Amino acid sequence: MTKGVEPPANCPLCPRLAALRRQLRHDQPGWHNAPVAAFGPIEARVLVVGLAPGLKGANRTGRPFTGDDAGGFLYATLRKAGFATGTYAADGDDDLALEGCRVTNAVRCLPPGNKPTGSEIAACRPHLAREIAAMADLRAIVALGRVAHGATLSALGHKASAAGFGHGAVHCLDTVTLFDSYHCSRYNTNTGRLTAPMFERVFDAVRSHLRG
Ligand code: URA
Repeated sequence: MTKGVEPPANCPLCPRLAALRRQLRHDQPGWHNAPVAAFGPIEARVLVVGLAPGLKGANRTGRPFTGDDAGGFLYATLRKAGFATGTYAADGDDDLALEGCRVTNAVRCLPPGNKPTGSEIAACRPHLAREIAAMADLRAIVALGRVAHGATLSALGHKASAAGFGHGAVHCLDTVTLFDSYHCSRYNTNTGRLTAPMFERVFDAVRSHLRG
């Protein structure tokens, strides 16, 4: 965990999310049940921004995208693109390591039904802004879905009108380039909205950008 960037374990900013956290600490004492810190080196040039921890995924294991289908897909794609080594395991007990890439979420705590409210997204934005500011070598951000796109733009100090979300869209902002992708959720992959080649092309574009 990067000191000063991540919220405290009992972050009180979102009453609804704090209440769910308290309930889950009671019901599932073996789970993480706290804000989920970013994963990967702070020196990375690439930051992947997801939506929020999943109930039995990051909220259980304490590592972003670990324990749900979205994570299996994301980490396999990062590996293929050369941004990860080792083997991913759904319980996080693995030797997966990110190379030049860091993964975080727009919202650090589990939201009911995977749906954070606008005010929860806004309350968590300073954490994302600090995360971005702490990454001195950052060149590219991959936003997984519309919420991550909006939270990232805002964390960077841009208005929503500065860049519209679209899968495969690339936005050159002042200091970093923002790459948009549909979220790698099970719903999007099951419906064919996001396929493996589509997702791989996003990270290929990031690689080309880093080379250029
Ligand atoms: N797990 C996460 O950590 N983030 C997501 O957006 C989805 C699953």
